[in-house]
Amino acid sequence: MLRGTVSIMLRGIAGHASTLLSNNTSTLLSNNTSTLLSKQARNDIKQAIWETILHRISPEEKSWIDKIEQIRKHFSINSTQVSVIDYGAGAPDSSRSEEEMLKGTTSISKYSDICKGSKPELWALLLFKLVRKIQPEFAVELGTCIGISAAYQSAAQHLNGKGRLITIEGSESIANIAQNNLESLNLNNIEIICGKFKNVLPEIFAKTSGIDYVFIDGHHDEKATIEYFELFLPHLSSGALLIFDDISWSKGMKRAWKIIRNNSAVSFSADLKMIGICKIN
Ligand SMILES: C[S@@+](CC[C@H](N)C(=O)[O-])C[C@H]1O[C@@H](n2cnc3c(N)ncnc32)[C@H](O)[C@@H]1O
Repeated sequence: MLRGTVSIMLRGIAGHASTLLSNNTSTLLSNNTSTLLSKQARNDIKQAIWETILHRISPEEKSWIDKIEQIRKHFSINSTQVSVIDYGAGAPDSSRSEEEMLKGTTSISKYSDICKGSKPELWALLLFKLVRKIQPEFAVELGTCIGISAAYQSAAQHLNGKGRLITIEGSESIANIAQNNLESLNLNNIEIICGKFKNVLPEIFAKTSGIDYVFIDGHHDEKATIEYFELFLPHLSSGALLIFDDISWSKGMKRAWKIIRNNSAVSFSADLKMIGICKIN
């Protein structure tokens, strides 16, 4: 999506949000348990959205963003081909069965096409700003691709002076590209694990009992998305932030998002149409 279009979209959402964030009656930001609502967390999310829209970035933040965007630029025009395996749902209207997704679909893809799966700059900046505000110690990302969103979140943690990120990618060839990209940025607070989300998660859960921040950007299947949410729940710290990408991507993802945001463990949620944010009790 063009940056201008995303910006206009976010502006509309934020205009709506700033009215509704203050009066607790929002469908955009709704409360399940208003007594447990953290005013601070609402403000952090609101500020992250506004700073993204206004492109309010410090010189040191800009320096990181420029370096990451250079990598995106390089890949977006690179026609090198590589074999990739996808364990996700494919396209919004595709009807891959559970068995097919488990087995994976192999194809030959250009770097430039793989790169298109990365979050566009403005949405990546929103993730960066959320991490800057929330200051998570232990963050997890499902869906690394070539490492663009991982680099944004990890750079934000680097600037925070604390925190680490574990990111999971199913396709080995793509994970190798991400590894090179993240190494070229000298980010040492990040680990890429190659494997299917469901297979790798127990290994991550064994490392900590308190995950503070999760970005789920892969698979895009209704049942799988709900399952990941349920798998994470017992391993989240109190007040953790869960971010779901592509909540309007397909009918199934819309249903999954509705079920997740209405779960009693969610103290409040923000629906940004593309991204859904949940704050856990
Ligand atoms: C949309 S891309 C991630 C983009 C990345 N977060 C960014 O914005 O830079 C989704 C990635 O998740 C991976 N993926 C999808 N389903 C998976 C699964 N079940 N297990 C492991 N990886 C998976 C795909 O190979 C793909 O690279």
